[in-house]
Amino acid sequence: MGQLLDDASVAERVLQHIDNGTTDLSETSWLEPVENYRSRDRFQAELELLRRLPVPFCPSASLPDAGCYVARTAAGTPIVVVRDETGTVRGFRNACRHRGMQVAQGSGCARFFTCSYHGWTYRLDGGLHHIPHQEGFPGLDANDHSLVPVTVTERHGLVFVTQDEPVNSGALNGLDGIAPIIDTSQRVFAASESESDVNWKLNLESNLEGYHIRTTHPESFYPYGYDNLNVVETFGNNARVTFPFRRIEKLRDTPPGKRDVSGKLTYVYHLFPNVIIAVLSSHTAMSISEPVSPTQTRFVSYRLTNAASEDSVIDLERAKRDAEFVASGSAQEDAVAVSAIQQGLGSGANDHFTFGKFEKAIVHFHQCLTDSLQRL
Ligand code: FES
Ligand SMILES: [Fe+2]
Repeated sequence: MGQLLDDASVAERVLQHIDNGTTDLSETSWLEPVENYRSRDRFQAELELLRRLPVPFCPSASLPDAGCYVARTAAGTPIVVVRDETGTVRGFRNACRHRGMQVAQGSGCARFFTCSYHGWTYRLDGGLHHIPHQEGFPGLDANDHSLVPVTVTERHGLVFVTQDEPVNSGALNGLDGIAPIIDTSQRVFAASESESDVNWKLNLESNLEGYHIRTTHPESFYPYGYDNLNVVETFGNNARVTFPFRRIEKLRDTPPGKRDVSGKLTYVYHLFPNVIIAVLSSHTAMSISEPVSPTQTRFVSYRLTNAASEDSVIDLERAKRDAEFVASGSAQEDAVAVSAIQQGLGSGANDHFTFGKFEKAIVHFHQCLTDSLQRL
């Protein structure tokens, strides 16, 4: 028995909310100090937490074959993950054991990692394979100069990286008994990074409640969706927020067991602490909010096709159109709101933000974040 409702039960709950004018509610509201979005000490503690949790690093689908790798900075640490010849994903601190240059940049496929500074070469298992002009390093033991591993776990179509001694099982603790979030048939069709001058938590929060739909998205999303009408479920430290489309009402006449919800709702998964995966009508968007400083975030985005149909070309075109529609509409409106909130943090108006009962997934996030930070 999983911890998340099946599709038919979600649809039933949505239809009940439509009939009753209700939405899922948190048991409590939450007061979050504004200082927690501004303080350098708090930021450093959050970075430490990110290094001591299994955090989603990339989709498994971005490492389709042996030798495929993804390199980027995670919680301030350069990391590279790679699928080795046996199919296992490994991860390393992306720093050469000679003088620390990064041995891989971006993403691609390789048989070895060759440092671009002096050419030290490493195998996919991290072992030091070759030192040019090795006679210059008398007595150097190659076995002591492998790339330094980090802990990698591959589950639910995702690659998780734990850099340091784990404080708890983080996002993994809710995954038992739920269906894979990303299916093996899904393909990455776009990957990008961008930076924004906002605290990493603000953008996350904008994805986790539907209380702002009418006022923030009056023309982009509200005509097709509902204001303040969501199913909100938590699983471990994670959450899933369901945003229904109005066309879900077409399912009223379908027996509950036969209701197909595809195209009738969006599932937004929050994987604790900094990853959002939105399962949209024709594609899936994964967004990792990488904290850079208290006022800067790098967004690492992957776009994937949804579960494969027989006609993959049409599937891909539809997925790209879907992605463009979201990027040019509601995502921009959210970004404007988030930037404005960032400006307001220093206004002196608020010493705390009040997250209400409609903002259940955000309340859960701050409860879990506070609890995890206390365990550091
Ligand atoms: S720093 Fe990598 S070979 Fe010198
Ligand atoms: Fe929004």
